[in-house]
Amino acid sequence: MADLTTSYMGLRLRNPVIVASSGLTKSVKGISRCAEMGAGAVVMKSIFEEQYWGEVAPSEKLLSYYPEALDYLRKGSLLGYAPQEKCSIIEEAKRKVNIPVIASINCQSPELWPDFARQFQEAGADGLELNIYFLPFDIKTPGTEYEKYHLEILEKVKKAVSIPVAVKLTSQLTSVPFLAHRLAKSGCDALVLFNWFLQPDVKVESLQTKNIIGKGSFHQSLRWVALLAGRIDCDIASSGGVEKAEDVIKQILVGAAGVQVCSLLYRKGVETLKDLLSNLETWMDSHGYRSIGDFRGELSFKKQELVFKEPEEAKAYFRHQYMKIFSGQE
Ligand SMILES: Cc1cc2nc3c(=O)[nH]c(=O)nc-3n(C[C@H](O)[C@H](O)[C@H](O)COP(=O)(O)O)c2cc1C
Repeated sequence: MADLTTSYMGLRLRNPVIVASSGLTKSVKGISRCAEMGAGAVVMKSIFEEQYWGEVAPSEKLLSYYPEALDYLRKGSLLGYAPQEKCSIIEEAKRKVNIPVIASINCQSPELWPDFARQFQEAGADGLELNIYFLPFDIKTPGTEYEKYHLEILEKVKKAVSIPVAVKLTSQLTSVPFLAHRLAKSGCDALVLFNWFLQPDVKVESLQTKNIIGKGSFHQSLRWVALLAGRIDCDIASSGGVEKAEDVIKQILVGAAGVQVCSLLYRKGVETLKDLLSNLETWMDSHGYRSIGDFRGELSFKKQELVFKEPEEAKAYFRHQYMKIFSGQE
């Protein structure tokens, strides 16, 4: 029988399927259910700094006069208590489940990330995922500023904790490989490709805007996992659009150390994890693979480039326009 154990961001996992940060992992009950259904690890629902502003949220006007007021509030006693609820969940979950529990952080102030990180480590989290979210809408800010912001946060968190730290990236970057490489050099233990956002839409009758919930882009994640695996010095997990076991297999083939799953479990139930895992096992058996390491990264760009088994195959990751594929066709 195939051995599904693997290693991700320095953690030993019984299998590479990870339940992504979401409402599914926001409580001890949710985490326990994921563990029962076979998850290799869970990433807890992110702690969002703003959640804890509550009634003391500073007004725009106050902030425009006293920008330092925000930092004062962030460091103040109210926010000091913020992670307590999360810490209790980590502590209880760690008593109940025997899979890694990765805590997830999303802050606005670079100062607060290490604070939360330290408290989660003390509560027993096995690792941290930094959910670094921004929308580069400012027309005067160059891409390098956003890159610097990622590095600054990672460096502060790495100094504060000894547990492994992953960074969940958005795909809205000028150069994913450049930043990925810099993060890995700064001690990042894993990259999660990619974060997912609510998408905007427009109601044409009432002339209003609205948000729609979607799912991550499987192929976008596949491309970048394939292009980066083995070329940067840290693990990579995919996040986005996994629908079936075949998708898990594809991500591992292109080099993912972990495959995060979310929307599928919302739609079809957390018990779907069992199918993903048994189908993964069946596929490995039928291909004669005894361990994940036997096929992980076989179709990564690095492997394709080096081995030159089928150099044509590596080009799939670069092709982005129809011209070449359909040339000669009307
Ligand atoms: C209801 C819901 C809540 C989510 N909450 C978070 C969150 O707190 N932090 C985070 O990093 N990602 C969050 N995500 C994004 C998922 O972790 C995942 O990256 C995304 O859904 C793409 O994967 P999928 O296509 O398998 O759903 C959330 C997704 C959903 C659907």
